[in-house]
Amino acid sequence: MSKGFPTSHDRRRRRTARASQCGVWAAVLILVSSGAAFAQILAPHRHPTLTLREAAARRTFLVGTAADADDLPWVPDPLNVPEYASTLGEQYSMLSPENALKWPIVHPAQDAYNFEPANQLVAFAQAHSMQIRGHNLCWDMDNPEWLNVLAASARPPDMAQLLENHIETVMSQYRGTVFAWDVVNEAISDSASGIGTDMRDSIWYDQPGIGLSGTGYVEQAFRWARAADPDALLFYNEYGIEDTGPKFEALYNMLQDFVSRGVPIDGVGFQMHIDTTGYPSTAGLTENIARIAALGLQVQITEMDVRLPVNSNGQATAADLQAQAATYQRILTACLKAPSCTAFQTWEFSDNYSWIPAYFPGFGAALPFDQNYLGKPAFSALLGALQTNAPVSRTASAVEEPGDLDAASRAWRAKPAEYQSSRGSRYMVPYSVTNQSGATMAVK
Ligand code: XIL
Repeated sequence: MSKGFPTSHDRRRRRTARASQCGVWAAVLILVSSGAAFAQILAPHRHPTLTLREAAARRTFLVGTAADADDLPWVPDPLNVPEYASTLGEQYSMLSPENALKWPIVHPAQDAYNFEPANQLVAFAQAHSMQIRGHNLCWDMDNPEWLNVLAASARPPDMAQLLENHIETVMSQYRGTVFAWDVVNEAISDSASGIGTDMRDSIWYDQPGIGLSGTGYVEQAFRWARAADPDALLFYNEYGIEDTGPKFEALYNMLQDFVSRGVPIDGVGFQMHIDTTGYPSTAGLTENIARIAALGLQVQITEMDVRLPVNSNGQATAADLQAQAATYQRILTACLKAPSCTAFQTWEFSDNYSWIPAYFPGFGAALPFDQNYLGKPAFSALLGALQTNAPVSRTASAVEEPGDLDAASRAWRAKPAEYQSSRGSRYMVPYSVTNQSGATMAVK
């Protein structure tokens, strides 16, 4: 474990998790002492008749969330928080380890791998019939100290060997278990011109890089990933490409080139860390998904949250919560209307465990469930979107068994012809919201 990996965000999560555990037990006591009548009043909020995953399953669609195990020693295992675990298992059909598969945790020393935290999440997901989405194999951020130190003196062939071994080792461990991987995360520059492909500086690209120009390292990572697990869906995951603009054009140029040369890639993850100011436009998002679909690639919304200005208690205004609900509904609806958009995932699900307060100071309350695991207006809006939009065919009749929901996105891959700063500031591009300063990620 890299010493640099703890963040104030994570320490805050420990505090809020503790507070919430107290809150949960207090609630249990109240329920027990005040009897069943009171419990019935609370019940509809916690357990609506229909869950997100049930509504999503009716239309063969995956609804997921990121989740953490006890991968960070200073954060109590959220899976041991009863309300966390029950909400996760009841509401979601897909789970992405928020941190457990990142290099500092899964590959804490050059010659050591630690699969324990990810295994806890995998076990939870399997026990609850959830699909597992792997995140991520290659990123310029969140790398362990040993890797950054090594990179400072490594030769490109050594970096290539390191990355290939990492991809091979981690993907083999979860072959047949993880159905989709974010192979490369955030490789395109925020100042991309849109002509050609401008890559972000990184230890994999040019510091020292793995010895390939342009998008070469991304291509190579995908080739190694396909070799490691031929059945896994391979995604390129990015932010700031959800609307039209030069960064999307750079992404599109890379995808077009990859598809034309047979580089193995199945889809693009649209992270979707947004606010309520209108980014991305519905038209832009729809156009981008369609252009990617025309290349034969699917899209998954991979990390959505909608940050709001909050007071010192982490509370947002009622008006902002309504605006947030409308934003969630708008984005999910755009995804549901596109046959090639096969999954919708938020980055955690309860405001207790969001990365937003630490990385975007002054903001928070970004997720569909509040700190007490009660559904917010955003939760009702997501449920409403799943119920009201007419199902589109994503499956090409390939969902073989109930529960085999990832078949929808697999089938889509099989039939592409059918639909021919500071740390926080990274995610502010290309939209602008003030009131944020440096985040506390100490790695890199
Ligand atoms: C974040 C996690 O949520 C935090 O707990 C961690 O401290 C830093 O990383 N884009 C990504 C995710 O691809 O991996 C990031 O997750 C959020 C932004």
